[in-house]
Amino acid sequence: MPGIVIVGAQWGDEGKGKVTDLLAERADAVVRFQGGNNAGHTIVRNSQTWKLHLIPSGILHAGTLCVIGNGVVVDPKVLTDELDELRRRRVDIESLRISANAHLIMPYHLMLDHAGEAKLGKLQIGTTRRGIGPCYADKAARLGIRVQDLLDEKILKKKIVAALEPKRLSLRPFAKDPRLDLQTMTEEYLTYGHVLERHIQDTTRLVHEQLDSGQLVLFEGAQGALLDIDHGTYPFVTSSNPVAGAACVGAGVGPKDIDEVWGVAKAYATRVGAGPFPTELDGQMADDLRQKGGEYGTTTGRARRVGWIDLVALRYTARINSLTALALTKLDVLSGQDRVRVCTRYRGAEGAEFYDFPYHQTVLHHAVGDYEELPGWSEDVTECREESDLPAAAREYLQYIAEFVGVPISLVSVGAGRDQVVWTQASVGMVGGAAQAPAGAQ
Ligand code: IMP
Repeated sequence: MPGIVIVGAQWGDEGKGKVTDLLAERADAVVRFQGGNNAGHTIVRNSQTWKLHLIPSGILHAGTLCVIGNGVVVDPKVLTDELDELRRRRVDIESLRISANAHLIMPYHLMLDHAGEAKLGKLQIGTTRRGIGPCYADKAARLGIRVQDLLDEKILKKKIVAALEPKRLSLRPFAKDPRLDLQTMTEEYLTYGHVLERHIQDTTRLVHEQLDSGQLVLFEGAQGALLDIDHGTYPFVTSSNPVAGAACVGAGVGPKDIDEVWGVAKAYATRVGAGPFPTELDGQMADDLRQKGGEYGTTTGRARRVGWIDLVALRYTARINSLTALALTKLDVLSGQDRVRVCTRYRGAEGAEFYDFPYHQTVLHHAVGDYEELPGWSEDVTECREESDLPAAAREYLQYIAEFVGVPISLVSVGAGRDQVVWTQASVGMVGGAAQAPAGAQ
């Protein structure tokens, strides 16, 4: 009954798609448990690039059950477009299941997301404007519309009316927008219902069946722990919980169903949108790293902010997720630096030092990284496949991170291709790692 959770250990965009894709090879099911199409996973297979926003990366493995869990917020337009694109590229989509209890992103959620950000002006969060926050807000207010409602015209209409009533004032600027017309909206969503109907199911029970019959189930997180609405850099966060514990809530399983928790982190750090980022770089170094790492958003195309790896934050996210393994991505991007820096503490206002991730917003906003410098490496590492292929300085860098964070590094990604990966000795014996570990490491 192994259950493995894969989460982002930084601010999202860590390369979870690739890690999930690798582990999905052996998995029987891949389940998404939170977030929506604010996420974007890029997977490169057989020189083809796939960009998925809602559908679990497992869909590219024929026969793997793919589940959109109850904790996800679903924009049915995006989902049906994504299904069309997969179908067009001859991917079998029959294994997709969508929780009847997942909440739907409605046209007014998109409008409210735009309007909310515009109103915040300089204080804006920099959301992806996909309606995520307003949708989760309606869920909490018990005004949400769920996937199951797509299948019943009367209920759908009634719920839309109830959801719109308290928003009348804030939606006034959009009063003439045809997307808000009750009849049009109902018909549009009923059409999505027809298209999606055969994928809609009680996915909680489905996941139980998988676990109870000993299948390997991956729970695929979106975003990253530092964007968690409870544990991240609030209010500059997303509106769900990207931490591992949310896999239980967002898929309907208990903590005992989880055997391993893999945290994915880049070999450096990036962040999209506003909010504190203690190790942020600017100037030429930032431009070079952004360019080399292709650090532009999959979902919005925005240039990402970049910085050195933040081990204070990483040790914190390792703890709140109970990480059992770290997957470190994009090591190749750091090749060519004379020295590499790792942030091991923060310096605050008036020289205060912080060794733990500060809970206080003001402290965090003023925190800047203090660093240890380690030797860099000039070698191209994109062809490395075993730990011993890596330059000594790169191995030293990995060892420093694993020891500081207190979590073993199970795999290192050295390029976008799915073969560009180094399985480490530490992955042997892990449920998610054993099969892929190089023969020499067994
Ligand atoms: P929202 O999730 O669209 O409400 O955006 C809230 C914050 O989370 C913004 O700073 C976004 O840039 C960030 N965010 C949301 N999804 C992702 C993601 O998949 N990767 C990185 N940042 C994200």
